Amino acid sequence: KIKFVCLCLLIINVYGSLFGLFLGPHYTVVVNSHQHAKEVLLQRGRDFAGRPSMVTTELLTRGGKDIAFSDYSPLWKLHRRLVHNSFTLFGEGTSRLQDVVFSAVDSLCSELMSNGSRGFDPSAAVTRAVTNVVCTLVFSSTYRHGDAELQEVISYNNGIVETIARGGLVDIYPWMKVFPNSSLRKLKECIAVRDRLLTRKLEEHKASLAEGDPSDLLDALLKGKKGGPKSHGLEGEGITDDHVLMTAAEAFGAGVETTSTTLLWILAYLLHHPEVQQRVQKELDENVGADRAANLSDRGHLPYLDCVINEGMRIRPVSPVLIPHTAMTDSSIGGHAVRRGTRVLVNMWSIHHDPQNWEKPDLFQPERFLDDQGNRATPSCFMPFGAGPRVCVGESLARLELFLFLSSLLQRMSFRLPEGAPPPNLQGRLGVVLQPMPYEVVVIPRPGWEGGAR
Ligand code: HEM
Ligand SMILES: *[C@@H]1O[C@H](CO)[C@@H](O)[C@H](O)[C@H]1NC(C)=O
Ligand SMILES: *[C@@H]1O[C@H](CO)[C@@H](O)[C@H](O)[C@H]1NC(C)=O
Ligand SMILES: *[C@@H]1O[C@H](CO)[C@@H](O)[C@H](O)[C@H]1NC(C)=O
Repeated sequence: KIKFVCLCLLIINVYGSLFGLFLGPHYTVVVNSHQHAKEVLLQRGRDFAGRPSMVTTELLTRGGKDIAFSDYSPLWKLHRRLVHNSFTLFGEGTSRLQDVVFSAVDSLCSELMSNGSRGFDPSAAVTRAVTNVVCTLVFSSTYRHGDAELQEVISYNNGIVETIARGGLVDIYPWMKVFPNSSLRKLKECIAVRDRLLTRKLEEHKASLAEGDPSDLLDALLKGKKGGPKSHGLEGEGITDDHVLMTAAEAFGAGVETTSTTLLWILAYLLHHPEVQQRVQKELDENVGADRAANLSDRGHLPYLDCVINEGMRIRPVSPVLIPHTAMTDSSIGGHAVRRGTRVLVNMWSIHHDPQNWEKPDLFQPERFLDDQGNRATPSCFMPFGAGPRVCVGESLARLELFLFLSSLLQRMSFRLPEGAPPPNLQGRLGVVLQPMPYEVVVIPRPGWEGGAR
């Protein structure tokens, strides 16, 4: 990977924290400061709301019929609004998401506790739990451990994640797609499996679509789409079955790896900082107790847990350069002209580690998200979900999930290092997202939770 980067990067302009380079044939501007990031994402967010077209993502999304990789257009705006509205179904003020996460957490906890005092890698179990949540939200399927369909979803998702992560070259040099390539073939196979499964779910949903509140994301999209059997007005004009399908696929692509990796980073840091884990558990004991599971109404009383989540996403943003943006018109950043079509990478890693924004940025210090009075305080240079027109559509969903997973896990169990094991390596490796190296934990049930659930 490093060798390849050296060959292709030709840095041609450097303006302090802003620099321009060629990634293959594409002139790309990299934004490293908070001020410039605010210009790109917020002040001139419209100018920079485009997305480049790439070979792998074109395949993945049937030519941009999704949200994340579709270029800016009126149809994209409509589609994004429809998806956003559908997500509010599961948002704050409804107990739907909570019920879904609770059932996934119960089986995750008993799975984690099944290994006694042996050390094991928690990543597969965490990914399975998050995948299960997304399956329920998207098409109302809830799976038991070991279910073949759940296993199919997990394995095609892994296949896509792995090939996309390694397919970097294909994206930079589109002409490479004419070369036979095993990665590209594997990607196509995984996409075919994915599409077969999702098409089946879509057809089932169409057949059973009923009046009343939609029961999941597929239902909500079908109802919002014009021409659906129970369409309400014109709001979804131009949204096709392909859009619905690609949106469902993207809930997995964008929602599983990010959320489970964020959880694994936070666990890794808790293993390094047992005092932080203890403080979260003390906060849970004082504000929730051990007689019932923590729920969304408790969120306001658990500020320290929120800080731990934020600090985890600050110090190890799973999407360290967001998703590439492109300039849709001639524009500027920091007074420097940027031509239409230029790719722009916002380096959130450097913004989250800039000593001008953060005191001792390399230390894990959740208290930095509290002010002098002990109230939550979120600095404006903290942007793990991006900002502006292209901000993560799943942000509030992801935050609710992170809160529910972590509060439930830490209420019920403590995480320790296996006897004699070194603490997790925190360096990270870049795949589709920034992941921790595999590590092992020992799980110790807390008093009253020995069976995993109540
Ligand atoms: C901890 C979890 C998550 C993190 C850290 C995260 C972060 C991000 C980031 C950084 C972006 C790119 C913003 C940009 O390009 O400027 C993004 C976009 C997106 N995210 Fe998330 N995300 C998370 C979870 C989710 C979930 C659960 C979903 C949906 C189920 C989701 C759906 C999307 C979509 C559809 C986009 C594309 C938005 C657009 O291009 O208009 N994300 N996310
Ligand atoms: C428990 O340990 C076994 C063997 O070490 C491992 O295969 C299994 O995945 C572990 N359980 C979980 C929940 O990871
Ligand atoms: C084909 O895929 C492999 C990864 O399996 C990658 O290393 C290689 O660069 C790709 N070749 C081409 C021509 O894209
Ligand atoms: C959380 O639990 C409390 C106490 O059992 C209950 O009163 C409240 O309604 C619950 N909130 C939610 C959102 O389920």
